[in-house]
Amino acid sequence: MTTEIIKQNKQSWDVVAHHFNGVDALPNYGPFAQTEKELGLLEDVANKRVLDIGCGSGHSLLYMAERGASELWGVDLSEKQIKTAEETLQGLETHLFCSPMEVDIGLPKLYFDCVYSIYAIGWTTDLTTTFRLIYSYLKQGGSFVFSWDHPLYPHIASQNGQLSLNGSYQEEGVTTYPNFKGEDAPMVIPRRKLSTYINELIKVGFTIDSVIESDVSVNYESTKVEVSDRYYSLYKAKRFPTTMIIKVIKK
Ligand SMILES: C[S@@+](CC[C@H](N)C(=O)[O-])C[C@H]1O[C@@H](n2cnc3c(N)ncnc32)[C@H](O)[C@@H]1O
Repeated sequence: MTTEIIKQNKQSWDVVAHHFNGVDALPNYGPFAQTEKELGLLEDVANKRVLDIGCGSGHSLLYMAERGASELWGVDLSEKQIKTAEETLQGLETHLFCSPMEVDIGLPKLYFDCVYSIYAIGWTTDLTTTFRLIYSYLKQGGSFVFSWDHPLYPHIASQNGQLSLNGSYQEEGVTTYPNFKGEDAPMVIPRRKLSTYINELIKVGFTIDSVIESDVSVNYESTKVEVSDRYYSLYKAKRFPTTMIIKVIKK
């Protein structure tokens, strides 16, 4: 089942990749959410070895390169995304791999100062293995920072601006979207509770540094808030966090 999900999602990501070129990338952590400039979770990355999990179009790695990271590594499921990342990072020395994050492809252990993931970690079909692998890649004292949809967010429905609960937050499992991004691209997205993410991080040995349920970024301070039922809207983001952002340390 897990292998089938990865196979299906890989095919579909190659179809929808063009919708995500530079969309969910640092310094942004998520839709309408505070940015790295506001939160300062990554600290000084100059001369640091960094690994991006679900590196997508490579724009977060480019941000890291601009801040002086010494080595740029990335993993992504989609061949299309890796190809785009290569283009984005043209001229820079990179180590990019097309692979599911939940598979051990022999990335160096005890090697990275910082592993991070912007809106990709929730795609994993095996959270424990993924976190265990990330823990193994980090040096002692290294940090792991990731962002993903706030786990309750997909359950918040909006009708004429009235927010209500859709489905059950209690039931973990998967949701299948037959036409992701309006394309002929079926996607299977795992559903997990916030506590599942936190408990799995603790289980593999991480120490929690910060858990952020996003507020609206200062970048939207002067934007007029209009009632909207869109999946991501400023209106909704003012009432409920779009994004969870977690920083943990390998002590
Ligand atoms: C929203 S994009 C992330 C954007 C990226 N962080 C950036 O900085 O541009 C999500 C990415 O996760 C990747 N992905 C989905 N499932 C994955 C998996 N199981 N393992 C690795 N990458 C995966 C997709 O191919 C896609 O590029």
